[in-house]
Amino acid sequence: MTPSPFYITTPIYYVNARPHLGHAYTTIIADVVSRFHTMKNREVYFLTGTDEHGDKIARAAKEENLSPKAYADRISDEFKALWPKLNIAYHQFIRTTDPHHVSTVQKILQKIHDAGDIYFSEYEGKYCFGCERFITEHELVNGKCPDHGTEPETIKESNYFFRMGKYQAWLMDHIQSHPDFIRPKRYRNEVLAFLREPLEDLCISRPKTRLQWGITLPFDANYVTYVWFDALINYISALDYPNGEGFQKYWPVVQHITAKDILKPHGIYWPIMLKAAGIPVYQHLNVHGYWNIGETKMSKSIGNVVDPLKMVETFGLDAFRFFLLRDMVFGLDSNFSDAILIERVNSDLANDFGNLFSRVIAMAHKYFQGIVPEVDPAIEEEFQLGLARDAAKAVDGFEAGMEAFEFHKAIQSIWEFISRMNKYVDVMAPWDLAKQKSSKKQLEAVLYNLLEGLRVIAGLVYPIMPDTAEKMRKQLGLDAEASFFTLDGLRAWNVLKAGTPLEKSITLFPRIDTAKFAPVPEGEEQNQPEPLKLKPEITYDQVEQMDLRVGRVRHAEKIPKAKKLLKLEIDLGEERTVVAGIAGSYSPEDMIGKQVIVVANLKPAKLMGVLSNGMVLAAATEDGLSLATVDAPVKPGTPLR
Ligand code: MSP
Repeated sequence: MTPSPFYITTPIYYVNARPHLGHAYTTIIADVVSRFHTMKNREVYFLTGTDEHGDKIARAAKEENLSPKAYADRISDEFKALWPKLNIAYHQFIRTTDPHHVSTVQKILQKIHDAGDIYFSEYEGKYCFGCERFITEHELVNGKCPDHGTEPETIKESNYFFRMGKYQAWLMDHIQSHPDFIRPKRYRNEVLAFLREPLEDLCISRPKTRLQWGITLPFDANYVTYVWFDALINYISALDYPNGEGFQKYWPVVQHITAKDILKPHGIYWPIMLKAAGIPVYQHLNVHGYWNIGETKMSKSIGNVVDPLKMVETFGLDAFRFFLLRDMVFGLDSNFSDAILIERVNSDLANDFGNLFSRVIAMAHKYFQGIVPEVDPAIEEEFQLGLARDAAKAVDGFEAGMEAFEFHKAIQSIWEFISRMNKYVDVMAPWDLAKQKSSKKQLEAVLYNLLEGLRVIAGLVYPIMPDTAEKMRKQLGLDAEASFFTLDGLRAWNVLKAGTPLEKSITLFPRIDTAKFAPVPEGEEQNQPEPLKLKPEITYDQVEQMDLRVGRVRHAEKIPKAKKLLKLEIDLGEERTVVAGIAGSYSPEDMIGKQVIVVANLKPAKLMGVLSNGMVLAAATEDGLSLATVDAPVKPGTPLR
């Protein structure tokens, strides 16, 4: 079965301000989603662009002594030039001044007018120029627009109105019967709350006596349409509505992305406009929160606007992209600061990920002259220790997270696998295997599996960090044509071919010198503990699934050729063999008679040829391991609650 196509859009950005962190975030998300769906062999169409009509653009142009069009050209070009520098591979960049867009807006206005849903009337209301819409008394906070902090202007004039009220019940019903129409849930609920109040009809015009910079109404040349009725239509004019091939193919599978600031136009006006024009509504509206700077809003007047290019120059493009996706829970607000970014880059990228990569590649060079080793199939399985299974689990978690716009969860899945790989290196200690000729086959299997693991990680990080993935691909000697960047390819194991030459090791993510960017604060704060890095949250039920028991060690012995491992015979009410990586801190003699805590329902696994049936818990400290135990003698097999 051919996978269905996929269509992703960003808001089209106003040209009254230069591109900043917020615009970059939304557009990077769209790029990540677009790349992810390409990995599922889908035909993807990714649309972005600029919104160029309206009062505030006309005002900004005037301030610069430019015509609105000349001004719009300049800022629109800035957006267009920025995206490739952030590795954003859009398919189309639409401008609301494109003649084709203008004629589509007029076509739809005429259609809705003919159907009787647009009428002429006098109106007085409070208009927010920041939002470019009338706002209701209900929305005001202390008489001001909550988003822009400005008092709306009272405007009284004759205008054209769109009968939104007529479709209120329909929209309510549609949202209720399509739980994922607007996600995450908090925004769906917000829209439903709006819809519980009577919906006012939408003013869609401006008299030309007051504003010329807009699209002329096809049924009244004295008026132009105002910003939302123009802007929202970009999503279909880009696809050549109504007869274009693109429209037929991509409109049924469209997903929009916006931040919460423009929830009302996208969650209410747009579906009603589509319904009134007889066009099927979109599939999903995905709404994210706001990036704040420290605890405050990002704003030109405060002077804390973050320039994405500066971030890229300072920290690197992939580090910046990774941080944005990792640190914002899609839907909630997040704080941006250099210090948080540096902490993430140093711990997640330089330490966990980068070190694993360079260690493995360096070992492949040291022990196998930089050639992927040949592995005896009989031994491969035994020395894989479930890595293939864990890689598949990571791919599943990644896919589920990406599909649901839960990017931080997709990333957690990848990092769980990275941490698993790091443990595998520690337990298998290839440097010990390399000391003896007789363990050559084991060493081959261990290195091969590690390289396979890196191949999967490279594919998983591809949508988020395309340059890094590409560097890893080259390093692993894989050719670009192969199914490297597909989910099917990542679900396979034993893909790397023995004999393939690897390139020399490179540093993927250099550590950022914290002192240079975030000087250690003076006084007490110097002693602040580092924040805890917790694993993803689990439920009570998940805790209950783990069967922890107190056991007593009856016998302990070393495992030949494995410096770190001890084979323990443990009384758990029944006799158990458990292989534990504790030989660096405990001798077999230390262990006899010790009470230990055992994960008793862990799936058995073979370690260095010994079947291990459980796991012993210990704390890892700088000075070595310290075993977990209970503080009084208890009967072997006693469960922990
Ligand atoms: N032109 C309208 C959208 C029309 S879409 C049919 C508009 N433009 S805008 O330039 O103001 O862009 C708003 C969008 O920029 C937000 O919805 C979000 O995607 C992005 N962001 C702007 N500031 C942001 C933050 N501080 N944080 C996160 N994203 C924000 O509204």
